[in-house]
Amino acid sequence: MFTLKPIAVCVSMLTIAPAALAQAPQLGQPIAPADIAPWDISIGPDGAGLPPGQGTAIEGEAIYVAKCQACHGEKGVRPNVALAGALVGGMGTLAPDKTPIKTVGSFWPYATTLFDYVRRAMPFQESKSLTADEVYAVSAYILNLNGIIGPNDVIDAHSLPKVRMPNRDGFIPFPRNPK
Ligand code: HEC
Repeated sequence: MFTLKPIAVCVSMLTIAPAALAQAPQLGQPIAPADIAPWDISIGPDGAGLPPGQGTAIEGEAIYVAKCQACHGEKGVRPNVALAGALVGGMGTLAPDKTPIKTVGSFWPYATTLFDYVRRAMPFQESKSLTADEVYAVSAYILNLNGIIGPNDVIDAHSLPKVRMPNRDGFIPFPRNPK
């Protein structure tokens, strides 16, 4: 009579299952917009989502020296590219006959990505610690070191999307939702 018990269990599961399925799983709870806002920080290439605030390269230099230079090197040019790469230079190296040096200046197609990346990921050991003004300023500093903007150009939600990166047209468009 050892087999009767498992059979009884199976029969009882068959009868309970439809009732259990009729109920929602009751997992989680609706999230409030205020709770999701700190995570909803993606910036589009066109600058959609950029927060208020502003900064110049001159203001950004002090932030860079204090919070970025140890890893990325003086003026963004790390001599021995190991872990954290250079942020500056390499212009014109993305050519068939050259060894490509990919930096923010030589490679990135949109300046707005710089704000997004620095705000969410840098400083590496203390990400999301910078204010919007600090991110604008340090982004301006990196763009200025790359010769893309002037030292006093004010970078904010309005001006950053208008910065034209040198490699803007160096990518082959690959639309994910072709119409
Ligand atoms: C403790 C070391 C460290 C510090 C400090 C640091 N970074 Fe970084 N950074 C890194 C590392 C490591 C990477 C590469 C991360 C990866 O590829 O996942 C990186 C990547 C980057 C990149 C992307 C480079 C590329 O071409 O892909 C940018 C831009 C950047 N850092 C900016 C900054 C700025 C601005 C600061 C200061 C506010 C800063 N970092 C501070 C270590 C650091």
